[in-house]
Amino acid sequence: MALGRRTNEHSDAPHKYKLDDKSSFVMQESYKTIRTNLQFALAGSKNKSFIISSSFPAEGKSITCANIAITLAQNENRVLIIDADLRKPTQHKIFRVDNSHGLSTILVGFDKLGEAIHKDVDKNLDLITSGPIPPNPSELLGSNRMDVLLDKLNEFYDYIVIDTPPINVVTDAIVLAPKTAGVALVSRQKVTTYDEIKKALDAIEFAKAKVLGIIVNDINVKRNSKYYNY
Ligand SMILES: Nc1ncnc2c1ncn2[C@@H]1O[C@H](COP(=O)(O)OP(=O)(O)OP(=O)(O)O)[C@@H](O)[C@H]1O
Ligand SMILES: [Mg+2]
Repeated sequence: MALGRRTNEHSDAPHKYKLDDKSSFVMQESYKTIRTNLQFALAGSKNKSFIISSSFPAEGKSITCANIAITLAQNENRVLIIDADLRKPTQHKIFRVDNSHGLSTILVGFDKLGEAIHKDVDKNLDLITSGPIPPNPSELLGSNRMDVLLDKLNEFYDYIVIDTPPINVVTDAIVLAPKTAGVALVSRQKVTTYDEIKKALDAIEFAKAKVLGIIVNDINVKRNSKYYNY
């Protein structure tokens, strides 16, 4: 097994929107604000695992998930990302690691947990990639094995950030949500409609899970620049 190995699938150029010390001040500060708000929202919860989802595809869940995890880990927290998008996984691409072992192979018992974690993909940050795409994602995510896995991981990590498919398209995030401290919903400015957000919020409420907040992605910084003067 070659965990931690960088894949040759992509060029060596970093992901365009992945946070690093060369990212813009506005971007770094925005993620710090999200971090603070999430830390407040999670303060009363013993379970520090939470879901990043959205109402529809391509609103920026996966890159937001990666950047939130990177920002939480900057504060000396031990952080884990789980790619629970078992339909269209991308975290292995963002962090450029192998994806032949991961959540799917752990949940079906092919891999031991310790063998399938990519350690230190960034400072203080570990990653469980999706693993090979299984035929039954919702069943795996809703299984008792997933509860057991999250219980174990909660003992080791300060925060667990979980990437998922969109809520209004498949049930995966909703099935998983009650096993976590809640859901942070990503929406994309000028793309996501109020009705779509409302539908996703209703689904989260129906599952008796907590909404941790809504993150607006892809905002026009120039148009909103007056807010950054403060
Ligand atoms: N703030 C942004 N500015 C410009 N492009 C962005 C921004 N956020 C995300 N993108 C781009 O939008 C595309 C979708 O992003 P991402 O994969 O994070 O979305 P997603 O919600 O996880 O999609 P999916 O539903 O397919 O899982 C990617 O090409 C990403 O680079
Ligand atoms: Mg995604």
